[in-house]
Amino acid sequence: RLSKKILVVAGDGIGPEIVAEAIKVLNALQADGAIDVTLEDALVGGAAYDAVGNPLPEETLVKARASDAVLLGAVGGPQWESLHISKRPERGLLGLRAELGLFANLRPAVLYPQLAAASTLKPEIVAGLDIMIVRELTGDIYFGQPRGVETLPSGERRGINTMVYTESEVERICRVAFDIAMKRGKKVCSVDKANVLECTEMWREVATKTAAEYPEISLSHMYVDNAAMQLVRAPKQFDVMVTGNIFGDILSDCAAMLTGSIGMLPSASLNEKGQGMYEPIHGSAPDIAGRGVANPLATILSVGMMLRYSLDAPEAADRIDAAVFKVLDQGLRTADIMSEGMRQVGTAEMGDAVVAALAGE
Ligand code: NAD
Ligand code: IPM
Ligand code: MN
Repeated sequence: RLSKKILVVAGDGIGPEIVAEAIKVLNALQADGAIDVTLEDALVGGAAYDAVGNPLPEETLVKARASDAVLLGAVGGPQWESLHISKRPERGLLGLRAELGLFANLRPAVLYPQLAAASTLKPEIVAGLDIMIVRELTGDIYFGQPRGVETLPSGERRGINTMVYTESEVERICRVAFDIAMKRGKKVCSVDKANVLECTEMWREVATKTAAEYPEISLSHMYVDNAAMQLVRAPKQFDVMVTGNIFGDILSDCAAMLTGSIGMLPSASLNEKGQGMYEPIHGSAPDIAGRGVANPLATILSVGMMLRYSLDAPEAADRIDAAVFKVLDQGLRTADIMSEGMRQVGTAEMGDAVVAALAGE
């Protein structure tokens, strides 16, 4: 078997701290022969801007294109907020997504039973929760034209962003959602704002038409405002949710809290060639960066998704999931998922515990 190439882009804030723990996990699996990977580093985000004046250096893009998978920490931070939008760290991330064509963003929200007490919702509301949010990632208001800020003749400024989807973009993300649902509960809820926005009215039509090819799938539709409410009211009604870029961004942070913490939610972003980028759904958490307290589990679980979706190593992925389950069973908790009677640990101690659990210790 050929060695697979992984590009590691740690980014900013807690990015390097959480990625270091994910690398420990990769190295442990490599050492016991479960996987054969070669790691390379590159700069992205504010770190790249500080080093070379560009949040997405050409070299990073070249390396990303040549790799089987990309592992990303997080980007952004207050020190880069006043830069021109084209230089901001977030552009590095958005540029990677766009340039690699990573249109399908999978964000599974799963409640580990051990964390029922960490959720801000009642245990009976979240027990057994297992939702897959399928977020379109390369279209919508994130990339639509026209955009920008213009000055009107009156001297007042006008800000513009445009929500745009083509039928083929909607169809391909719906197919991803339907294919995933076929391996799960066969229920898909498409989330839109078809009562107000023409773009998403078309989304609904295309979703319905595409679903006709999947007779076993039961497709429902929901407006995004109701979907946000339903996620908090009765989240277990959902199996797979499919939605556009901006609604998916917001709904996945909301769903994260059902699992106890945003520090638990991994993601995979896939293109049509099966290449993927893997990252926690959370950001660079400037408020806790540099203190060694961030939860590395979302990033470690993202490595699991990488092994499953891009590196053809499902057994190793299962081992990561089982190791995370075991450390939670052992009562280890980072601050964000801490609850009474548990043992609070830092970022590195949590990573070490996952590695030990992988080794069967
Ligand atoms: P954030 O996700 O960084 O943080 C939100 C809150 O969650 C903070 O209180 C933070 O401490 C906490 N949190 C996040 N991850 C955690 C973890 N692993 N363990 C424990 N607590 C964690 O969102 P924000 O504060 O809105 O954004 C901060 C910066 O991150 C901004 O520059 C933003 O653009 C960027 N961002 C980047 C990504 C990404 O790289 N994919 C995603 C979201 C936000
Ligand atoms: C995410 C983030 C990004 C997004 C930002 C940092 C560009 O919030 O990955 O969820 O909005 O997609
Ligand atoms: Mn987000």
